Amino acid sequence: MNTANKTPATARPSVRQSAVSEILDTMSYGPAPESPSAATAWLAGHSAGFDLFVNGAWVPAEGPRFASINPADSRELAQIAQASPTQVDAAVAAARAALPGWQALSGHQRAKFLYAIARELQKHARLFAVLETLDNGKPIRESRDIDIPLAIRHFYHHAGWAQLLATEYAGHEAVGVVGQIVPWNFPLLMLAWKLAPALACGNTVVFKPAESTSLTALLFAELAQRIGLPPGVLNIITGDGAVGQAIVAHAGVDKLAFTGSTEVGRAIREATAGSGKRLSLELGGKSPYIVFADADLDGAVEGLVDSIFFNQGQVCCAGSRLLVQESVQADLLARLRTRMAKIRVGDPLDKNTDMGAIVDAAQLARISGLVDGARGQGLTVWQSEAALPAAGCFYPPTLISDADPSAEVVQTEVFGPVLVAMSFRTPAEAVALANNTVYGLAASVWSESISLALEVAPQIQAGVVWVNSANRFDASCGFGGYRQSGFGREGGREGLREYLKPCTTAASVRLAPAAAPTATPTVVTPLAAASAAINRTAKLYVGGAQQRPDGGYTRAVVLGGREVGQVPEGNRKDIRNAVEAARKATGWAANSAHGRAQVLFYLAENLAARAQDFTDLLALDTDVSAEAARAEVEAGIERLFHHAAWADKYDGAVHQAPLHGIVTALNEPIGVIGLVCPDQAPLLALVSMLAPAVAMGNRVVLLPSRRNPLVATEFYQLLDTSDLPGG
Ligand code: NAI
Repeated sequence: MNTANKTPATARPSVRQSAVSEILDTMSYGPAPESPSAATAWLAGHSAGFDLFVNGAWVPAEGPRFASINPADSRELAQIAQASPTQVDAAVAAARAALPGWQALSGHQRAKFLYAIARELQKHARLFAVLETLDNGKPIRESRDIDIPLAIRHFYHHAGWAQLLATEYAGHEAVGVVGQIVPWNFPLLMLAWKLAPALACGNTVVFKPAESTSLTALLFAELAQRIGLPPGVLNIITGDGAVGQAIVAHAGVDKLAFTGSTEVGRAIREATAGSGKRLSLELGGKSPYIVFADADLDGAVEGLVDSIFFNQGQVCCAGSRLLVQESVQADLLARLRTRMAKIRVGDPLDKNTDMGAIVDAAQLARISGLVDGARGQGLTVWQSEAALPAAGCFYPPTLISDADPSAEVVQTEVFGPVLVAMSFRTPAEAVALANNTVYGLAASVWSESISLALEVAPQIQAGVVWVNSANRFDASCGFGGYRQSGFGREGGREGLREYLKPCTTAASVRLAPAAAPTATPTVVTPLAAASAAINRTAKLYVGGAQQRPDGGYTRAVVLGGREVGQVPEGNRKDIRNAVEAARKATGWAANSAHGRAQVLFYLAENLAARAQDFTDLLALDTDVSAEAARAEVEAGIERLFHHAAWADKYDGAVHQAPLHGIVTALNEPIGVIGLVCPDQAPLLALVSMLAPAVAMGNRVVLLPSRRNPLVATEFYQLLDTSDLPGG
């Protein structure tokens, strides 16, 4: 730099300063590679190929093995077993056999196993980190400082939950045998997210890593053996999607937990529908990253580096859609390009590397195909000129601008280091663009105004919204998606619930027995007499009003060969209208929890005021005794009180994540819920399904008992008098 003679004396840098600048300009980092020797020694010990870990022992592959490749140099690391269908059977059988013993342990005993796992992981953290980097291509800085420490934290945290389970989750027990299938982007961390809560709750597990990144799971199996985890509690079987399919289809599996692509998640949901298996899915994303004009722009740029270039962008919650307020767009993009040009892409084992290798050639081809497609559509594609290694699967940091909200690269999950930038003018436009996606996993909001950030964050339909930060995770915080990003949560109390169910052994409340369809009514009530005298026309109840059914048909309710009343017969159009009315009634969710509680208390009050009418109607409609009918009405009143009480007490939580400050987690209603009531106890069933749903702010489309529907047509008259808003 030789500008000193053109610079005014006051601003001129000293000789010493310019010398430093010159050095800095020419300085480059020398390589600082982490030694792979411990990992390669471990791999050499398995040069004959890896086996499967079933029932606490190593079982050889029955068929041919396949190669696990280091994506940074395309060299083979190991031969992995492809589990056969009979080996999947054996793993499930081992998990089933181990279940009673594992469940019978006290929480404290299970806590000790989880604690031992965390301890062992910590002791071998560097080996796990290097092995992960070799197998996946992620920079050693990330596997060493993020993946492995977070995995360890998960086991510690859930050791604590195992200890507390009996008191915090009294009346709950393990779901049973759990099948867990994970992808390749965070191999050991995903294992920890899945395994720690499952084991803490007393489940036994059949676990399948992704075919391209099985190695840390296999090393983990050795660790489980070393700490003496009882045989069968954890089974690790390797192989491709066919092995995953076999786990999914297996009748001996009680619950499935899957992380991976939306396509496979959809296939798993279809395959398990009607099977009774519990399911949680953590799928893709296209997360918005919103930068307002008043944001700290340099902070936002650093956040973007963490958000979209972390793990080469192969992150389900990557902030892949940059939405920037128009007035600062040019400034932010200029700063971003300057920063992107400094990202070092190269040897993943080098401690100075920022971005390592893409996981495999197929993923690399997918990323470049999508970027080439954007280029072909005339979008502006800017890529850093960082030199890429000659061999291996590398891709440069990429920024695409001038994109239309409907462009393929804006809507499709690229799963690579590719950021798409768009602009907005107002907060409302930012929210609309942010929510214009089929996904809903995560979002980031950047603004120095806490009021603006807190106003915008809850309007974004995403499982996690980070404010002035990105990609923050902790074992105490639930993580998961909306819509095509899946359902179910991992981490925290909410994650624990995925692996628990109410005890089947607990005494259950005995309800009045269902009416025998052929019974003859014994009680002829004043109401029945009245309905016989005045020809009452029951209707559907849609949008807060009584509506005639679209088809114009009415059905006779017959009991013991005698017609006891008539109900309208709804059709598809009625359902559509009801769903539409429910969708429009967004005000109910926005109502305060206290306000919702008030409505439910009022409903209970009105039911109590008409208890005799409902008792008579139940006795007529279901042919239970008058005493049983009265008991059902009383139980209904009590249940409305119960859910009214909960409405303003089911709070979220504030987690104190050790590394990231304060995390606020809010409970939200699901939205519009379809409820189909059973025939048994028609009033109590209706109340029991309706009340918790509306207490939490959901809107409901409810089909009452088909056999005994009369009570529902009376119940909606209570809704009219209890301040429940229409829809
Ligand atoms: P994938 O969803 O096919 O694989 C994830 C896991 O599911 C692997 O263990 C695989 O063996 C297993 N699997 C595959 N087919 C299965 C089936 N029918 N039944 C049960 N298990 C099955 O993901 P893949 O092929 O590795 O990547 C494809 C694309 O998915 C990527 O290009 C990326 O865009 C996206 N992806 C998204 C992830 C996320 O976390 N959101 C993670 C991995 C991939």
